[in-house]
Formats: sequence, C-alpha cells, structure tokens
Amino acid sequence: MNILVVGGGGREHALVWKLRQSPRVKRLYCAPGNDGMGRQAERVDIGASDVEKLADFAAREAIDLTVVGPEQPLVAGIADLFESRGLKVFGPGREAARLEGSKAFAKELMLESGIPTAACEVFSDIEQARKYVARDRPCVVKADGLAAGKGVILCSGRAEAEAALDDIMGRKVFGAAGERVVIEELLIGEEASFMALMDGDDFLPLASAQDHKRIFDGDEGPNTGGMGAYSPAPVVDADVHDAVVERVLKPLAAGLKRRGLVYRGVLYAGLMITEDGPKVLEFNCRFGDPECQPIMMRLDSDLPSLLMATAEGRLREAAAEWSDEAAVCIVLASEGYPGEYRTGVEIEGLDALDSWSNGYAFHAGTTRREDRWHTAGGRVLGVTALGDTIASATREAYEGVGRIAWEGMHYRRDIARRAIERG
Ligand code: AMP
Ligand code: GLY
Repeated sequence: MNILVVGGGGREHALVWKLRQSPRVKRLYCAPGNDGMGRQAERVDIGASDVEKLADFAAREAIDLTVVGPEQPLVAGIADLFESRGLKVFGPGREAARLEGSKAFAKELMLESGIPTAACEVFSDIEQARKYVARDRPCVVKADGLAAGKGVILCSGRAEAEAALDDIMGRKVFGAAGERVVIEELLIGEEASFMALMDGDDFLPLASAQDHKRIFDGDEGPNTGGMGAYSPAPVVDADVHDAVVERVLKPLAAGLKRRGLVYRGVLYAGLMITEDGPKVLEFNCRFGDPECQPIMMRLDSDLPSLLMATAEGRLREAAAEWSDEAAVCIVLASEGYPGEYRTGVEIEGLDALDSWSNGYAFHAGTTRREDRWHTAGGRVLGVTALGDTIASATREAYEGVGRIAWEGMHYRRDIARRAIERG
C-alpha cells in the first residue's frame, strides 16, 4: 500500500510512525510533514491546505490512501475533491466536517439527535447576547467557527460574559469567527477525549485518552492545543464507555445519516464527565493532538488496515487491539506559547533519545539544520512513553523529557497527576 499523510505536527508524526511499522505499507509520504517525520516517511513539499496539488500528487504517485491529519483541509473539502477524482481518503467531507467547523451546526445536530450536551443559545446580535448574559449565571462564550481552539471563554458571571462578548463580537479578536457566538451552560466535571472511527454505517471506538488543555500546572493559564495526554483515561470506566456509545455515537451516526451525510474518518468527542454522565463539549473531525500520540503507541492492530477499512466502509469487519500498558505524552513547547514565541533555538539531547527503548519523541515543530535540531513551532515535541501503569509511564516520559533541553523550553510538570491520584 502507498500512503500519503497530510499535515506536519505531532499527531501526523505519530500516525506516520505507526504506519511505518506495518508490513503492508510500501511507500509512505507526508505533506508537508516535518523534519522529524522525515525518518519514517518521504516529505513532499505541498502544504496541507493545497488540496488541488495534493490530489494531483496522490493521482500521479498511485497513492492507495490519503490520511488527512488536520481539520482545515477537511473543512475546506479535501475529501470531496479526492472522492470526485476516484482517490481514497481517510477523513470526512466538507459537510460532515462542519461538526468541527461550525459549533452552531454541531449543537443543532446534537439537540435534534438527543445527544447530551450543555444547554446553549446562538446569537449574531451583540445586544441580544448581552441581554441573555444579564441573567448572571456561569457560562461559556464561544466564537462560532475555527479559532484554533482559542475562541472559547469561560465566564463566572455577567461581567466576564460581557467582556467576552465585547472581545469576540465587538473587537473581533478571533476574526470573522466572532460574527456569531454560542453561549453555553458551564459544565462541571472531568474532561476526557473519546475517539471513534466512523465509516457512514458503523463505528469503532478507539482507546480513551485525556488531554491537558491549559498551558500551566494545575490547569492555570490560557487554553492551548494540548500540553500532554495519556491513555487510557481512568475516568472513562465501563459505564461511561457504554454511555458514550449509546447516547453519543449511536445517535450521532443516525443523525448524520438522516441528513444524508456519510462520515468516513475519525470522530473526536471532547467530553465532560459530569454527575449526570458524559456530555459533549465539542466534536472534532480528526484525531486529537496530542491524544493521537499515546493512542498510537498503545495500538497493537495494523493501522493502515483500520484506516483503509474506514475509508472503504468496511468497519463492520474491523477490530482494534490495544496494549494493556498505559501511554503518556508530555508536550514540550516554546516559551511564550500559546502567545508569541521564538523559534530557531537549538535543541540539545534529541539524537541521544534514539536509543530510548520505552518511548519516543514525536516531532511537532522542529527543523534540522547543519546536523542539529532547532525549534520551529509553539508545540515542539511530544515525548511519549509506555509503562505498566499510568504512574510508571509518566515517570518514564519525564525521564525522556529530562534528557532534552533548549533555552526557554516549557512543559507541564503535572501531566497525568489526576489519573495517578485516582489510583
Ligand atoms: P471547545 O473548543 O468548545 O471544546 O472548548 C475548549 C475548552 O473549553 C474545553 O476543552 C473545556 O475545557 C472548556 N469548555 C468548553 N465548553 C465548556 C462548557 N460548556 N463547560 C465547561 N467547560 C467548557
Ligand atoms: N488536544 C485537543 C484537540 O486536538 O483538539
């Protein structure tokens, strides 16, 4: 099989790393990839959003399956274009990708399908939105549209909600995504990431995971793309798992079908596990990042077979086997992220990690120049390790982290602490 992976972050490195282990994969490409991914796959100099060029490449190189990592090309319709040209693709079409691309659409589908989620109202008019938040209850104000996970402001009451509305709708700090806002009830509980492969008819749940969204220890500071993740997530016990399958995945699959949408790819449900059971915070139309990294490390099954079964609508025949071990990923970021940060700083100790037997450092934002690694992004590396328990995997991962250094390197010291405390 010849496979093209679209994207160039830690998620895509984890996919490429796992795909390379399969004897079924002959040629493996990544576009644009990153220098770390260059170890497992051939890099192609086409941007992830340059969908026409990607389709030309896939046709010319006889690519059997294109796996789309990030949401932007999916929301832009890469899957529709590939399908119209007879090219196989892992990832939903433009309409179905609106589950992530439009929070308002996702809410509408959840409400009409009876999927548990926070109560909400949608506003395009700032005055009406102001009137609504005058009730002075804890709430969440969200810009409708992609804002790189940033367009979400948690508010304890009226004053904070009004300030959020001024920022999002008044001053358009998240750009055009601020034309409409979703105002939600604030949910209380523990978050978990639940992903499932979906092929239009069937779905196959993947191992559970938990992310750490805030930049600082103790869940302080602004939201990021994710500062670390582990799998499995103890909060997703058998009851929660069954509840997600019955109350989220089944009604969602039925809801998509009712609207005539064929969703082929991975569906990511960001959940709040509340006292009343799991409620959906958001859907994403792609693998979580960093969640993908520990999940790929635990996957025992052949990844290309699973992705191909998804793309071809054969999930009914598929099963996924998982290692009993836990995996933990610590994200190493540039100082200043998720705000402004410096790049081009030399990274020490990364090559020496090649001899590390219990883990792997996935590359998210690095470049190799003159035989040395340099930082090239906000999130730079995802240092990921396996262990018998979450506690031992965490120790191992931090040991890997301890061998890497650069000026201004930032990471959280408390990844997986909640799971470890749970016992
Ligand atoms: P979103 O992009 O909508 O998932 O929001 C990003 C983050 O904001 C989530 O991962 C949660 O930590 C938080 N969040 C979003 N919506 C809510 C809510 N209704 N209640 C509590 N926290 C929320
Ligand atoms: N780590 C959260 C996400 O990928 O959306």
